[in-house]
Amino acid sequence: MKILFATKNKGKYKEVKNIFSDTDIELISLNDFDNAIDVVEDGSTFEENALKKAVEIYSQFKLPVISDDSGLIVEQLKGAPGIHSSRYSGDDATDKKNNIKLLDELKSFPEPHCAKFVCTAVYIDSKNNIITNDEINGQIISQPRGTNGFGYDPLFLPEGFNKTSGEISPDIKNKISHRAKAFNKLKQIMVDNNII
Ligand code: IMP
Repeated sequence: MKILFATKNKGKYKEVKNIFSDTDIELISLNDFDNAIDVVEDGSTFEENALKKAVEIYSQFKLPVISDDSGLIVEQLKGAPGIHSSRYSGDDATDKKNNIKLLDELKSFPEPHCAKFVCTAVYIDSKNNIITNDEINGQIISQPRGTNGFGYDPLFLPEGFNKTSGEISPDIKNKISHRAKAFNKLKQIMVDNNII
């Protein structure tokens, strides 16, 4: 069974493909098409954005779709960057620019900078609509460490670890992350409902 992951983010695709690697599904992504619409993420919650991506991509391709919306929530920044995580530093944002902006915003606050990553995962097809959520707690450190992962991984120290998400192995990240937990829940519900 072919399932389309509504993302162009290669880091996310790799993680989620790995989670479904013990099933029969063939997971493809928007990078397999050159005509995929750009879904405007203008919802006010992670759930609204994840659903919007799934619904719009399902309408375009008529294939079963999974999608997610995720982001970093920093306590001292009143929840920022939140749903704006990918564009935190502006329209020409890159992971590096986002990390620099995050450290800049945090420099006047005392450590620890408590934070969490959150993820909503969605599956839709012509009959089913499944939504799951999960998160991982940790803190933001003052110097980036590690080159694994993507996004804010080099600055995020998961609770109970002395390595950042950018330093831990992809295998370990894919057991503990917000996305891993949300997609493992999604996978279990899909199995329980005989979808996969
Ligand atoms: P979106 O879910 O595509 O809207 O993007 C969420 C943004 O949150 C990403 O571009 C990253 O900046 C950040 N983010 C989400 N998940 C992770 C992660 O696992 N590691 C690091 N950054 C993440």
